[in-house]
Amino acid sequence: MIEKIKETADFLKNQIGSKPVAGIILGSGLGGLVNSITVEKSFDYNEIPNFPVSTVEGHKGKFIFGKLEGKNVVAMQGRFHYYEGYSLQEVTFPVRVMKMLGIEYLFLSNAAGGLNKAFEVGDLMIIRDHINKFPDNPLRGKNLDELGTRFPEMSEPYSMELISKAKRIAKDNNIKFQTGVYVGSSGPTLETPSEYRYFRIIGADSTGMSTVPEVIVARHMNITCFGISVITNLAEPEDPNLATTHEEVQNVAETAEPKMTLIFKKLIASLD
Ligand code: HPA
Repeated sequence: MIEKIKETADFLKNQIGSKPVAGIILGSGLGGLVNSITVEKSFDYNEIPNFPVSTVEGHKGKFIFGKLEGKNVVAMQGRFHYYEGYSLQEVTFPVRVMKMLGIEYLFLSNAAGGLNKAFEVGDLMIIRDHINKFPDNPLRGKNLDELGTRFPEMSEPYSMELISKAKRIAKDNNIKFQTGVYVGSSGPTLETPSEYRYFRIIGADSTGMSTVPEVIVARHMNITCFGISVITNLAEPEDPNLATTHEEVQNVAETAEPKMTLIFKKLIASLD
């Protein structure tokens, strides 16, 4: 595993001029941030040794190096999902590679269902914590001691400092935001009415099929994380007419994307 990570990182290092300080992983319909990157070099996932290949509609599958707000960044346009059949080690492989390339920060976005009754479609939710409901943990198995400890502590999965900066940025720009807990589970099914209710009861405010594995692996390597859920649909257990479609998720994500992009850009601009 460690050899593969190094091989991939070396392949990329040989072709890029500068060391990225932040990694960015963009969710379904949320890839627009890459248009603000002054691209230095871009790779299709299938050109990168040891990379899995993304299969989902709406995911472009590119690893993009360049400058955003004067900072060197590496962005994933489209991520790997557990429901596509990858193991959680495969899903999180790019995060391992990003760390080897030098990132200190990881910014993540996802399209998510809203569980909190106060949420509206199109809201942004700053993620303050998560619950892992995947049937696995990406750190299961032999620990990569070179990269992190066997039992990583998870008291601050999402940086409190970045969260408070993000709130300030949202307020200053009149962007409505929520703050809450994201529950990640395998998919690809959306939740049954009872599963939505269950997730609400255990304390989650948004639900989706990503982010948690990447953040676990990032925290294992001591990367500072920040995440936003774009609420694309509301979990309405009592009303089957409000059932969610993938198209709806994509459309809402694309509409809300510029607000999310603004917060990411200004946060990245503020990094030292
Ligand atoms: N559930 C799970 N994942 C999702 C949802 C949802 O309601 N909306 C967007 N991604």
